[in-house]
Amino acid sequence: MTVPETGPAAAPHARDVAPLTRREFELVAGLARRSCGLELPESKRLMVWSRLARNVREMECRNFSEYYRRVLEDESGEALCAMIDRLTTSFTGFMREPVHFDFLRKVVVPRFCNAPQIRVWSAGAATGEEAYSIAISLLEAFPEARPPVISILATDISRNALRKASRGIYLASRLRSLDPVLLAKYFLKGSGRVRGWYRIKPEIRNLVSFRRLNLIDRFPSIGSFPVIFCRNVMIYFDRETQLATVGRLTDCLEPGGHLLIGHSETLAGADSPLEYVRPAVYRKREAKARQPWPRMR
Ligand SMILES: C[S@@+](CC[C@H](N)C(=O)[O-])C[C@H]1O[C@@H](n2cnc3c(N)ncnc32)[C@H](O)[C@@H]1O
Repeated sequence: MTVPETGPAAAPHARDVAPLTRREFELVAGLARRSCGLELPESKRLMVWSRLARNVREMECRNFSEYYRRVLEDESGEALCAMIDRLTTSFTGFMREPVHFDFLRKVVVPRFCNAPQIRVWSAGAATGEEAYSIAISLLEAFPEARPPVISILATDISRNALRKASRGIYLASRLRSLDPVLLAKYFLKGSGRVRGWYRIKPEIRNLVSFRRLNLIDRFPSIGSFPVIFCRNVMIYFDRETQLATVGRLTDCLEPGGHLLIGHSETLAGADSPLEYVRPAVYRKREAKARQPWPRMR
């Protein structure tokens, strides 16, 4: 097991970077909104400075105006990806908002007991804790005799987060929210040089495929799912982007399938084929049965 870096290294002299003027903030915030739906109010100006100062420094720009221009000019898209990586918030945790995992076990699993396969999408998966929690919950819930094939798609816009997710290596402190029995069953414990770290077992890791996907773009063809987790992601979007994203997510739900959002989010006012089930759980209505043709005499 190779120990991953623990968070961003100290920014080289980032404190020397000039403050972000109001005009520069508007430019950067506008770019963040257009490229990933991120809504950054003026109150976040200092936060944006502190998150991007390192990028400004690394690109050897004199100030944020030059940085903004260079990001736009970079045809490879690398600088924009690096900017998004720094601006997005990837806070997450194992079994976060545990009622959703109860819901998965008690409501979704019984519908799939005789199915050959179950596919779940973790949209905005961050560093992987959500996707691995889904995998563990499903493995625990299906009867051992004939479980369906479990396949989890985990997507995020942040390449840094996806890199960490795909490694599946976590500090012990990040695993405190996981039942110790599940920890022992599904993780390998590091020893010696990697003491204090845990790695998800390869057979669980292999149930999840990680992919970069921007939720505000048109989705590539990824099929349809009986359950989509998109939790604590749209909270950073403006209302219009939220509604458009919910529409695209709903298109990827099977009829009768469930969309799970964060408990601090709401879809109230969204005109979509989703019905409210319980807090942070919505269900796509089944297609209405087609009216039989009237009998011809
Ligand atoms: C706060 S984390 C939530 C992680 C997890 N879903 C949870 O609830 O614990 C939000 C994640 O959404 C991702 N994100 C933000 N904007 C996105 C976008 N436009 N497309 C895809 N992912 C995005 C961020 O990179 C971040 O990893």
